[in-house]
Amino acid sequence: MEKQIHCFLCILILLATNSLCVNKTMNSEELLICMQNIKKVFYTDEVETRALAGIELDIRQGEYLSITGPSGCGKSTLLSLLGLLDTPTEGRYRLAGSEVADLSIADRAHIRNKEIGFIFQAFNLIGDLKVIENVELPLTYRPGVSRKERRDRALESLERVGMAHRLNHYPSQLSGGQQQRVAVARALVGQPSILLADEPTGNLDSRNGEQVMLLLEELHKHGATICMVTHDPRYAAMAERQIFLFDGQVVDEEEMQRLRDEEDRRVRELAMADRSA
Ligand SMILES: Nc1ncnc2c1ncn2[C@@H]1O[C@H](COP(=O)(O)OP(=O)(O)OP(=O)(O)O)[C@@H](O)[C@H]1O
Ligand SMILES: [Mg+2]
Repeated sequence: MEKQIHCFLCILILLATNSLCVNKTMNSEELLICMQNIKKVFYTDEVETRALAGIELDIRQGEYLSITGPSGCGKSTLLSLLGLLDTPTEGRYRLAGSEVADLSIADRAHIRNKEIGFIFQAFNLIGDLKVIENVELPLTYRPGVSRKERRDRALESLERVGMAHRLNHYPSQLSGGQQQRVAVARALVGQPSILLADEPTGNLDSRNGEQVMLLLEELHKHGATICMVTHDPRYAAMAERQIFLFDGQVVDEEEMQRLRDEEDRRVRELAMADRSA
């Protein structure tokens, strides 16, 4: 009898351990980002702008997502909330397993430095700093990273984007495409959980734009999680998953087309009314 109880207990422990393992596996595949009913209203001089109107968005680790939509539909606002540059007016946001919607400025800065890599349309490199110093910069805010480690990691990051031969140049001595590649290296250097890119090709000619897109694709193939805003449907289609924003809401592709056609029709009607007036 005692033996049977012992066996039974062993099976129970085994089952419990297994279910823990399953949960662990599920956790490792868990959502990196989970936004629920995210709203953002800007208040200026008694004018209220509803930039985001109830966003539901999940991003899994390793996903490559593009966001498109007409000008003013809330793409940059969404990206700045995803990147903890701003806080939502309402809604829940979980990033890497933690609730982050209502953190203090200092806590947000800390998590941002660890989890987020930004790539902006205008590159945003610091003109007075050399390429290598620009890339090292995010690590200077990390406690416990030595000077040597900083330099080594920055070098490694520049090698990944094919810019290690321009360490001592200043941003103004580089082409636009090269500057954006340095900005990608800076975004990568802290090994963030996600890269957020707002119109990364917006200031580039098509050849340089394509190179930056190929670089993002390459990073994704090596496991990077990327969320990119773009106006260019060709680039949006290079992502693994496309989402469409309209008037601060996520809509599906068909709905997006219908809303666009409706807007075009309204603009044409207004133009005709103007002409006949
Ligand atoms: N700081 C702010 N204060 C007031 N209104 C803002 C602010 N930032 C954005 N908005 C408004 O929120 C709306 C969404 O702006 P957002 O910049 O997110 O659009 P977008 O989709 O990125 O547009 P674009 O494609 O032109 O970059 C717009 O109506 C804009 O005027
Ligand atoms: Mg924008």
